[in-house]
Amino acid sequence: MDSSLLQWPEPIVSVQSIAETGTTIIPDRYVKPASERPVPVHTPDPSFSGNPSIPVIDLGKLAEGAAECRAAMRAISDACRNWGFFQVVNHGVEPELVRAVLATWRGFFHLPAEEKQKLANSPTTYEGYGSRLGVEKGASLDWGDYFFLHLFPFSIKNYDKWPKLPYSCRDVTDEYGRQLMRVCSTLMKVLSLSLGLEVGFLQEKFGGEEIGGCMRVNYYPKCPQPELTLGLSAHSDPGGLTVLLADERVPGLQVRKGDFWVNVHPLPGAFIVNIGDQIQVLSNAAYKSVEHRVVTNAADERLSIAFFYNPKSDLPLEPARELVTPERPQLYRAMTFEEYRMFVRKKGLRGKTQVQSLEAV
Ligand code: OGA
Ligand code: NI
Repeated sequence: MDSSLLQWPEPIVSVQSIAETGTTIIPDRYVKPASERPVPVHTPDPSFSGNPSIPVIDLGKLAEGAAECRAAMRAISDACRNWGFFQVVNHGVEPELVRAVLATWRGFFHLPAEEKQKLANSPTTYEGYGSRLGVEKGASLDWGDYFFLHLFPFSIKNYDKWPKLPYSCRDVTDEYGRQLMRVCSTLMKVLSLSLGLEVGFLQEKFGGEEIGGCMRVNYYPKCPQPELTLGLSAHSDPGGLTVLLADERVPGLQVRKGDFWVNVHPLPGAFIVNIGDQIQVLSNAAYKSVEHRVVTNAADERLSIAFFYNPKSDLPLEPARELVTPERPQLYRAMTFEEYRMFVRKKGLRGKTQVQSLEAV
């Protein structure tokens, strides 16, 4: 292990503790360079008619007749090509469970600071309660705290790192993880087929029974100067698929569309799905991961739960041979997810520079 990953380069100060002082000025470390600030919050692309937004897909259609199923698959494929992002409704995850997982994690972030600190994380595994991502000394920081944990494969799940409070947290999170793995499995099959691959292709490449599932619960406190900072800097997700549960009452997520940032308004009960870098690599860029970021606001705190469906960490992944042709040569070299993830762990979030670093020369 690289020794720089054993501990954080500076003491961690939770954003929540800064927000709770009632300060009206955010510390310099959180002030972004002018080019990254979220102003204007939304600039419509003149080529769009109406208000652009990510597509909404009814997953229930996959279980209907052949025509409905084909149409839903086509809609997913189009969304992957055009946006890298879509919302899913009718996904089969129970609404009570969705409410419960949001409530239990809200409860966690409202525990006293000492209680949360018991689970403070380190950059070796990221598991636990934390605030920053990269280990670069002096790096610019984002206006958010998080809790990160591994759910799958079972062999790496470690309850010692999970919150003991609220009491419901463990059971609810476990059940949520199981149901989310099912949603991801369905999506992976659709993606495989829509790329012209065998139905189980992507999951097999991801390691079958050993596929990873982890979760980051993001907590964005109210921010007195939202125009100067970001809750999460622009990034693409390093793994396979991300399924995000976000509070529909407090917007914040923005997705890149060309040169613009488009606000995402989650429908009640919907999940927001996006393609990660590993699908971009396996599909030889037929499907591309898309940059997104989070803006903060002064009126409300915001909680989101990102579930990441990732390849087993030690399998080298490279573009599917079926998708490499003389017209479209192999765009990326092989790399394991373990190695890939080190980039974020060292440097923090850097837009799409990471997947670009894999481009075959
Ligand atoms: C993430 C992420 C978005 C959000 O956790 O990778 O992009 O709305 N979260 O919190
Ligand atoms: Ni993300």
